[in-house]
Formats: sequence, C-alpha cells, structure tokens
Amino acid sequence: MKTILVTGGAGFIGSHFVRHILNTYEDYHVINFDKLTYAGNLENLRDVENNSRYEFVQGDIGNAELVDHVMKRVDYVTNFAAESHVDRSIMGAEDFMRSNALAVYTLLDSARHHNVERFLQVSTDEVYGSLADGEAPWTESSPLAPRNPYSVAKASGDMMAQSFAITYDMPVVITRASNNIGPFQYPEKRVPVFITNAIDDLSLPVYGDGSAVRDHLYVTDHCEAIDLVLHKGTVGEAYNVGGENEANGVDVVEKILDAMEKPRELIKYVTDRPGHDMKYSLNAAKTMDLGWKPKHDFESALRLTAEWYSANEDWWRKIKEGADYQAYYQRNYKNR
Ligand code: NAD
Ligand code: DAU
Repeated sequence: MKTILVTGGAGFIGSHFVRHILNTYEDYHVINFDKLTYAGNLENLRDVENNSRYEFVQGDIGNAELVDHVMKRVDYVTNFAAESHVDRSIMGAEDFMRSNALAVYTLLDSARHHNVERFLQVSTDEVYGSLADGEAPWTESSPLAPRNPYSVAKASGDMMAQSFAITYDMPVVITRASNNIGPFQYPEKRVPVFITNAIDDLSLPVYGDGSAVRDHLYVTDHCEAIDLVLHKGTVGEAYNVGGENEANGVDVVEKILDAMEKPRELIKYVTDRPGHDMKYSLNAAKTMDLGWKPKHDFESALRLTAEWYSANEDWWRKIKEGADYQAYYQRNYKNR
C-alpha cells in the first residue's frame, strides 16, 4: 500500500484528484490534508468519505509540527493547497503569501526530511505572466513573469519547489495548468459565476471588453495529467497542462448562454480587473509526450459543468447564501 498526501483535497481540483486516485489505484491510501478555508468543502467528497483507504486531517500546510507528524506515513505528496482566486488576492494577499509561498517551503522541508518518493507541486499557467497578441504559447522553459499577487505567490512556491530539486536532489515535479472547469468549483470563478447567475436570470458580469483569452481544461483531464506526471514525469522538471480550448471572454459568455438557452441580454460588461492578464496560452507537448491528452473539448466541458450546477443547486445555493460569499460578492461586484 502506498500513501499519498493530497493537500487542499477538500477544494475544487483536489477533491476530484482524491476521487481519481481512490478509483484508479486499489493499493493507494489517501490522506486529504486541508485547512478548510472558505473554499474547502467536505461535501465535495461525500461519496468517498467512508472508503477505508481515505482519511481526512484538518490542518494548515504552514503548521510545521502537524505537517511533520503526518509526513512520517507518506510516500507521495501532491500539493493543491492554496488561496486560488485572483480577485481576492487583489483585495489583500497576506493569506496568499502564507499558503502559496511560505507554506510550500514548510511542506517541502518536511517531505525532504522524510525522504518522500515524489513531491508534485500543483502550479499554474499564471506564473508565466501575460502574452501579447502574436506571441508563441509558453513552453516550460519560458521565463516566469507573474503580474498579480496570486500568481506572484504561486510563482514563489513553484520556484521554491524547483530549488529543492536542484539544491537537495529532491524528487520534485511541477505541473502548470490552465483554467479548470467542472463540478464543485467555488462560484467565485468565472464559469460557475456565469452558470449559477444564468440559472437565476441574473446578469453575467464580463470584465472589461471581454477580450482576455484563457485556455480551458476539464478538471478530470487535469487530474489525469497530474497522476501521469507524478508517476512518469522526470524529476526536477515542470509540465504544462493545457486543454487546447482557448476562448476570450465574449466567446465564453455567449457559449454558456447558448448552452443554457438563456438570452444574450443577460451579458453585462463591467469595470475591468486591475492588471488583468490578457492572454494565457500553453504549449503542452511535453505532457502529451508522456501519453496524456485532454478528453474534453470546450463544448462538452461546458455542457457537463452546466448540467452539474443545474442538478446540484443545493451545493452552490448554500455557498452563495453564506456570509463569506455575500461579503465577497458585494465587495467584488458592487462598484463595477
Ligand atoms: P480551491 O480554492 O477550490 O481549493 C483550495 C483548497 O486548499 C481548499 O480546500 C482550501 O481549504 C485549501 N487550503 C488553502 N490554504 C490552505 C492551507 N494553508 N493549508 C491547507 N489547506 C489549505 O482551489 P482549486 O481551484 O481547486 O486549485 C487547487 C490548486 O490548483 C491551487 O494550488 C491552484 O493554484 C492550482 N491551479 C488551479 C487552477 C484553476 O483553474 N482552478 C488552474 C491551475 C492551477
Ligand atoms: O489559469 C489558471 C488560473 O485560472 C488558476 O491558477 C487560478 O487559480 C484560477 O482562479 C484561474 O484564474 P483566472 O483569473 O483566469 O480565473 P477567473 O475565473 O477568476 O477569471 C477568468 C477570466 O474571466 C479572466 O479573464 C477574468 C474574467 N472574469 C472573471 C470573473 C470572476 C469575468 O469576466 N467575470 C467574472 O465575474
């Protein structure tokens, strides 16, 4: 039996990864280590909580003592734990620096002392910054040039992980993925904001003129790539994970409204995000060379996501009606 530590396993992508590992490997024990911030939700894992190969530990990856206690039993680490929302980082980035930068060091240091077999740092395409029109998609050797507080903190964690591979010969691998979509995504990110607002016939707030481009990746495709890089990736290297689904803000909002048979009149252009990164685009050939390919195109990923939010109103209404969400929503959208 191998033991895999999944930090941030109660969040959006981490919960899918916990499920993926339990369903894929009969000889893996999963420890989900999560602080349960506003974004952590154990309801995301109701279907596996009684699995004898699953266990949950509530804790902060910045808590060296607790991390060390758990790490004694661990063969593999996958670090999903992070503050993940750019707009919140613009309001204040202290928690981002603690969890996405400093705590990555704490986790790496403990994993090193316990000689873990593999440490996978879940990074992001945002660490590369923003592309100008006509510039080639990023490869793993493109320079890191983050531009917002969230991505600067993530780049710090990414570079610290690289430094452990170089300095201590530690078996570290890194993934840098594009915008994930799918079930259980906290409705502060664009796609679930748009889908849940459309269900309620509320306006869909498009930042700026809707020209910013993102690549979209269905969350289970991301989990498959992480699994592959964890087991087959070359130590010390980073791997881009892109869905080959690039679209700008206008395309995205129109596709969502069309898929949900809602009128275009719901589109509302609002004040842009400060420092908005205008284009992310990844060259994911290196990950594909390991044998990975995304299984979902943008249309099927959006359809599956919209169907899930339509069928699971209890999950997101509880969040949207909560005090944290209400405060965030007011703060982010009131004066736009
Ligand atoms: P999320 O916000 O849905 O979940 C984050 C989880 O981490 C939550 O369960 C939260 O409770 C937990 N957490 C936060 N700080 C913690 C700490 N200090 N200690 C322990 N647990 C903590 O995020 P997500 O969208 O699932 O993203 C997961 C990871 O993937 C992040 O590292 C993010 O940077 C990265 N990523 C996300 C995307 C995306 O599109 N969402 C794309 C590429 C990379
Ligand atoms: O690319 C990977 C990154 O994708 C991850 O590292 C981050 O954790 C994740 O949050 C996501 O970051 P983005 O900033 O790209 O995602 P977000 O959903 O916040 O915004 C996507 C695009 O939509 C972006 O151009 C801003 C725009 N937007 C966003 C919101 C919330 C809107 O137009 N309206 C909105 O209400």
